[in-house]
Amino acid sequence: MIHFTDNIFRLSTKKTSYWFQVTAHGHLEHIHYGQLLPDDQAVMPLLHKRTAELGGSVMYPKREAGRNINFYCLDTLCLEWSGIGMGDYRHTPAEIKMPDGTFSADFIYQSHIITDGTVRMKTLPSAYCDSSGTTGEVNELAAICQTLTITMLDESNQVKLLLYYTVFYDTNVITRRSVLINENKVPLTIRKLMSMSVDLPNDDFRLITFDGGWIKEAHKHERPVSYGIHVNSSTTGDSSNIHNPGFLIASGDATESRGSVYGFNLIYSGNHYSAVELSNHDLVRIQTGINPYCFEWRLEENEVYEAPEAFFTFSAEGFNDLSQNFHGFINHHLIRGDWKGKERPVLLNNWEAFFFRFTQLKLIKLAKRAKRIGVELFVLDDGWFGKRNDDKAGLGDYDVNRKKFPRGLHAFSRRIHRMGLSFGLWFEPEMVNQDSNLFRTHPEYALTTPGKTPAQGRNQLVLDLCNPAVRDYIVENVTAILDRCQVDYVKWDYNRHISDANSSTLPDQGRFFHSYILGLYEVLDRIFTKRPHILFESCSSGGNRFDAGMLCFSPQIWTSDDTDPIERLKIQGGLSYLYPLSAMGSHVSEAPHQQTLRDTPLATRFNVASFGCLGYELDLKYLSRVQMKEVWEQISFYKDHRRIFQYGRFFRGEPDKENKVVWHCVDDEKGTGVSGFFQTQAKAGEGFDRLSLMGLKAGNQYRIKTRPQSLFIKRFGGLIKHILPVTLNPEGFILRTINKVFCLTDCIEEYEAYGEVLMNGILLNNQFVGSHYNENTRLLGDFGSSLYLVESDWKGIGQHEK
Ligand code: GLA
Repeated sequence: MIHFTDNIFRLSTKKTSYWFQVTAHGHLEHIHYGQLLPDDQAVMPLLHKRTAELGGSVMYPKREAGRNINFYCLDTLCLEWSGIGMGDYRHTPAEIKMPDGTFSADFIYQSHIITDGTVRMKTLPSAYCDSSGTTGEVNELAAICQTLTITMLDESNQVKLLLYYTVFYDTNVITRRSVLINENKVPLTIRKLMSMSVDLPNDDFRLITFDGGWIKEAHKHERPVSYGIHVNSSTTGDSSNIHNPGFLIASGDATESRGSVYGFNLIYSGNHYSAVELSNHDLVRIQTGINPYCFEWRLEENEVYEAPEAFFTFSAEGFNDLSQNFHGFINHHLIRGDWKGKERPVLLNNWEAFFFRFTQLKLIKLAKRAKRIGVELFVLDDGWFGKRNDDKAGLGDYDVNRKKFPRGLHAFSRRIHRMGLSFGLWFEPEMVNQDSNLFRTHPEYALTTPGKTPAQGRNQLVLDLCNPAVRDYIVENVTAILDRCQVDYVKWDYNRHISDANSSTLPDQGRFFHSYILGLYEVLDRIFTKRPHILFESCSSGGNRFDAGMLCFSPQIWTSDDTDPIERLKIQGGLSYLYPLSAMGSHVSEAPHQQTLRDTPLATRFNVASFGCLGYELDLKYLSRVQMKEVWEQISFYKDHRRIFQYGRFFRGEPDKENKVVWHCVDDEKGTGVSGFFQTQAKAGEGFDRLSLMGLKAGNQYRIKTRPQSLFIKRFGGLIKHILPVTLNPEGFILRTINKVFCLTDCIEEYEAYGEVLMNGILLNNQFVGSHYNENTRLLGDFGSSLYLVESDWKGIGQHEK
């Protein structure tokens, strides 16, 4: 997996190779990152050549042995790391005020070691591997992952830089991180220290980022990599819904299933920074790490600073294969605790049903209905504590609101458990309202700037997690409730960005943003590592902290406050490039939707939400008898196939038409799959719809059948005349009454064929166009969709004779 010969490091995963060498002067020169190459191959053809001195170059002060002209210019080398002051003018991975008072730094290779497994970080969560983490045929630790630790030294300053590379063989992921050690008596100051930096020769690259904001998280954006520096970063104190830390670099011709694609991400939940720079020598520098924004970290003699771990992958088979690498890595090497690899329960959350206006009785009625439709976990959201009857008061006080729960929360939790449901609870522990007992007693716990009025977000201030007393307060109060009330699930919310980044407990405010995250991780570790049975769902106004750092603690994350399925196609679709479906909370809510006023069919709300961790978030009281039955059927279907939805191999369909989205999940072991066909907007007279399956095996026989879903006759409005022999008033009493007790079943299609036929594409039945309706007409309209279950009959026709 990691080999070192002739000064060349060769790192290989199942399908990729990453090679670099130690140059004559001790710099690390990148040679190749891409598809797997045989380890015994000479590197010469791949090396970036230096056979001419380019005008305008500033040459390295030492000449390479055997050459009488100096061609050694750091600016034109593909490097694994670079310093300042030696002729490399590209974006630097490190800006350090060195002990000698200058910013010049020239880190030179000293030694390396190769060890089996990972090297644990001391201050931050990182990827791990154990033999249970592997998916495939190999399960010896050495076969799963190995770590290369390289020691570099800036000699004149006696400052050491350790570069770690861990290879996760099965999932085709490599992680990198850097550690700085000051061995000088004189302190140094880090202004920027990236986790990784690498230079690749340009291949008509495109940069793909996942950006947005509240209720529009992780929309995919792409642009050509062109001259200059493109930065993907956050300054909000969190990883942010504005720019997700994960990003992709794709060759010009890459598609979902073809072409070279690289993906990068960071195991960190605070301010992140990634830069992609195209140099004038057509080299692309890619780096990621903590944002240098407001960052300054002094290192005294023998002090150590760890940058967070970055992880990256490559695929020569397009975006889907790349995403599958990330999904496997996150599921096997980041997610931990009892919920690793475990199917997530179907939950009902009371937030969108009642907001703050609920009584215990209302909740119990909701929970009973939830139980009837097959829900497994009841989640009590905001509003259960202190004076929390709106979002202006109560955050920080964890005493149960006795008006709402006269016999206490533990009694309510018991009641929920007696119904056969698990019990989940919402907290927002990092925040405080000024109207709270906590703020009145400890105003110094909140972040403020001396001489300035603190800025508020959602009427709240952020607690100072750099302060150990605040951390203790949170841990003690949250754990007291978790243990007393038998809580099986926690939704940990964080509803505003940081302002007033100042802690009186810090020697210097350049440490603030990183110290906050270190404080957060400490709190999460103290609460959840001892309680691995709790399913922890992280949330931050939806997906404001959807990152790999949080995934080291919370196996799932509330993807977005936006539960409109058409919006979710973009949000879940965007996140799916970087994160597995097992990590995405996705709920069915009411329509018209809170966020868009869009009226979408109940079936589509489920069909989209099923590609993730399914939940319901609406007042079930308002569902009619037929809708309750439909919802019961949805949940039963989901339970039967949830392993595929949460852990199957996920494929995004190649865009065929701009108003269609297709998703597939495939269980390779069982040979089953589910496909979703979504129509974002109807178009008149479109011709035909093609459903091209993905991930099936050529030569195996499959049966594909539409999941039966209800067609509520109210949807037809005045068009009801097409399906009933009588004409009814579309707004009238009769139609409304029939709609509550009677519905049709949407068109069902069924095909049997070999994998290669289905992957070639099924031409689906016609859509309704007003000329005629029968049971073989697909009724999609705007926002219509269907799920298709794919099963293989191994005992049936079986495999082709080949
Ligand atoms: C945030 C969350 C919601 C809900 C509310 C409660 O907005 O994203 O899901 O929990 O807070 O106040």
